[in-house]
Amino acid sequence: MSKKQIHLNGFIQNSPSPHSTGLWKHEKDQGTGHNRLEYWIDTAMTLERGRFDALFIADVLGTYSVYGNNHDAAAKHAVQLPAHDPTLVIPAMAAVTKHLGFAPTISTTYAQPYSLARQLSTLDHLTEGRVAWNVVTSYLESEAVNMGLEQRLPKEMRYNRADEFLQVVYKLWEDSWAEDAVQYDRENDTFADPDKVHMINHRGEFFNVPGPHLVEPSPQRTPVLFQAGASPKGRDFAAKHAEAVFTKNHSLEALAAYVKDIRERTVAQGRNADDVKVFPMILPIIGETEAEAYEKYEALQNSVSYEGTASLLSGHTGIDFSQYDPDQYIEDIETEAVQGNLDMYTKDPNRKWTLREAIKNHGLGNGTVKFIGTPVQIADRIEEWATEGDADGFNIAQTYSPGTFEEFVDLVVPELQARGIYRTEYEGETLRENMFGKGRKHLADNHPAKRPNLAGQWY
Ligand SMILES: Cc1cc2nc3c(=O)[nH]c(=O)nc-3n(C[C@H](O)[C@H](O)[C@H](O)COP(=O)(O)O)c2cc1C
Repeated sequence: MSKKQIHLNGFIQNSPSPHSTGLWKHEKDQGTGHNRLEYWIDTAMTLERGRFDALFIADVLGTYSVYGNNHDAAAKHAVQLPAHDPTLVIPAMAAVTKHLGFAPTISTTYAQPYSLARQLSTLDHLTEGRVAWNVVTSYLESEAVNMGLEQRLPKEMRYNRADEFLQVVYKLWEDSWAEDAVQYDRENDTFADPDKVHMINHRGEFFNVPGPHLVEPSPQRTPVLFQAGASPKGRDFAAKHAEAVFTKNHSLEALAAYVKDIRERTVAQGRNADDVKVFPMILPIIGETEAEAYEKYEALQNSVSYEGTASLLSGHTGIDFSQYDPDQYIEDIETEAVQGNLDMYTKDPNRKWTLREAIKNHGLGNGTVKFIGTPVQIADRIEEWATEGDADGFNIAQTYSPGTFEEFVDLVVPELQARGIYRTEYEGETLRENMFGKGRKHLADNHPAKRPNLAGQWY
């Protein structure tokens, strides 16, 4: 029997050293070059050389100012500040690659479905079908107040809005333009047949959008849908809509429990258990020997900014840790911010975490699990997490950027390929084909966007 094949994404943000706080000043880090095209071109070419599925570009629309109720620590330590636009760098990367996908993060809480649909369809055309969308509902108060709200919407409402948001964009992407609407018929002076360009006439609680869509059908129509909700509501949302989910876990056991839960919820939505691909995030720290890798880990941990990470963790969890004793245990609460980031430290079955310990951990790779060792050891763990943890792929975070990607591609990817668990060539033309198999350019027929029997629910 052929071995389970894994998929890989690179995890980045349009900020200096976004996921390893303070490493912008590390001698190997080039993250301060995020405002130059060369940085993105280099990154994309490295990932395509490593046959990655996609580059996942995280994003926030506000500052990390929960800590001390101001943005001082975020500005001083470059904690996702500056935060440049995640979509504008994509065409430059697409121009120097043929297969790599691009997954920008855009928030359903602050975008409008009509313009977002146009933006992503445009990118899907320009990349020839290599765009995904990381659907987020946003968690920072600073985003809400800068985007014209008095305060952050409650999580329940954010997800309800996201649900309706997706109904609208599905109608625009899937139904507005018939496949044969564009005719390019010079003899009859017809670019597109107007009878095949439909209004969508959406009227709902949050949005009224008559349509039609402003863009003719793109190679994938709906971009590949990524999501990363960890709360029960977030998981149900993912199970209903997502084609891939991102997760952060400390342990194989925690991952296995998460995957089982997501697959059960996906089946409850009338989809197949494996219709949602699960990508745990890992931070690789690679050495020629195990001892060298651990020395490197130690040195990197010492380069992390304590105060910067405290501000990151405060933003992630919604708790102002400037008020905490560093040796105090982190308490288990329900947060309006990112539940998964708090759960990592409050629901760990193996131990309790003090603030100091959590900060030390969170500073590298946003607190995700570290795979430390030789390329062979790292490949062993990847294989273990894919088989015993049922992961479909991995989201590779970085310490220094883009050097972490370069090391992973040069040292770990050949090991995975030699084991027959990772592609040596891309399978398809579009991102969805590379993730789900040749011929799968469009959403699966059992996806809610495509199920006419659910029309009552959607339209
Ligand atoms: C690996 C990972 C990456 C994420 N990236 C982003 C991001 O770039 N921007 C964002 O606003 N939220 C991001 N999130 C947050 C979630 O998408 C979600 O909006 C948030 O977790 C709140 O919902 P929840 O409590 O259901 O998890 C990320 C979460 C995880 C686990």
